[in-house]
Amino acid sequence: MMLKDKNIALYVTGGIAIYKVVDFMRTLIKKGAKVRVAMTKSATEFVTPLTFQILSQHEVHLDTFSEKDPEHVAHVDLADWTDIAVVAPATANTIAKMAAGFADNFVTSSLLATKQPLFIVPAMNTDMFNHEATQENIQTLKKRGAYVVEPDTGFLAEGYEGKGRYPENERIVEELEQFIISSTADLPLKGYKILVSAGGTKERIDPVRYITNDSSGKTGHAIAEAAYQKGAEVTLVTASELKAPQAIQTVRVDSAKEMYEAIDERFAETNILIMSAAVSDYGVAHTATSKMKKERDSETVSIELAENPDILKTMGQKKEQQFLVGFAAETDELEKYAQKKLQEKHLDMIVANEVGRADRGFNVDDNQVIIFTSDHDKIEIPKTSKKNIAHILIDKIVQELEIEE
Ligand code: CTP
Repeated sequence: MMLKDKNIALYVTGGIAIYKVVDFMRTLIKKGAKVRVAMTKSATEFVTPLTFQILSQHEVHLDTFSEKDPEHVAHVDLADWTDIAVVAPATANTIAKMAAGFADNFVTSSLLATKQPLFIVPAMNTDMFNHEATQENIQTLKKRGAYVVEPDTGFLAEGYEGKGRYPENERIVEELEQFIISSTADLPLKGYKILVSAGGTKERIDPVRYITNDSSGKTGHAIAEAAYQKGAEVTLVTASELKAPQAIQTVRVDSAKEMYEAIDERFAETNILIMSAAVSDYGVAHTATSKMKKERDSETVSIELAENPDILKTMGQKKEQQFLVGFAAETDELEKYAQKKLQEKHLDMIVANEVGRADRGFNVDDNQVIIFTSDHDKIEIPKTSKKNIAHILIDKIVQELEIEE
């Protein structure tokens, strides 16, 4: 989402990690970014420009003096076109030139003409990376506002272990998305603190058994990401095993009680609470401290359940400036029950969905929901991905809060 329609100037310099950059570029394109590539001469010794040309569907810039269009100066043109400049892999040599302000080839000239944010992925020999000169150059670039990805420590092309390895694509893309968000000033939820709950709580019976439900946490995790992409400071309280981006503060919980405590602790300083978790209404009254044994002389056993705190209802009672969003998972009479919960829990918005159907709801990628607001708005969202629903929901909240986009 963050990379969609972004103009990314990709500067490729001469290191053995180039073959990994090809894949990185494909990920950027798949995420909707427009990529233009410039390479140094030494970069072309490792991979031919043709690879980048075919994948970016655009000519690769190589030479400052091969000006094909008399009306434009190519390296300045590329700099002006750029939303974000990425140098990957960045060699010690190019990093040094950038720090000193050199403009002795297409890459360094265009970088010097770039006013937009700069994202650098160093990859080199461990001794070159640790050298004081390189470290000082990196510090200089950071001081000027550039983002420098920390290289991995691991097996280097030289055949030994060390720091300097080009990191996994996934981490680079994640850090790039974070950098774009942090360097975009006008996101609507900047300054907002959002608390999102996700997943199905686990109520322990004994050390190896628990009661839970079918909730996967996909919706809650997607909501946390959508809010983060709109600039919010997000805390995700989750009972799900799903991963969350590093920039989202993630609190892992099991039971409804743990979830309650995690939310209650943070509620006062929260602006928006979105309770998408499937919280168990009942917990086990007496959790056994050792594994329960099979009852030999009885065909039935019973486990006593005790009511759990209703997190959302309690927050509804405590609410001051907070905007509260609840979920209602119903098998029948969707609208009636959703409206009832909206009122009883003092919510500003409720997302209602039908459960008990195989093609939507719990543990699948798609869902179909209706959003009801306390001011009697009703938005029906036809079946779509949970990711899309998350974005629509966040947009609706922005609209309800009358935040200017
Ligand atoms: N919820 C909560 N704490 C609970 C139970 C539910 O915070 N102990 C929240 C859920 O996260 C959801 C909303 O309340 O946002 C509605 O949950 P749901 O279980 O559908 O409603 P209940 O009030 O428990 O009513 P019922 O189970 O009878 O439908």
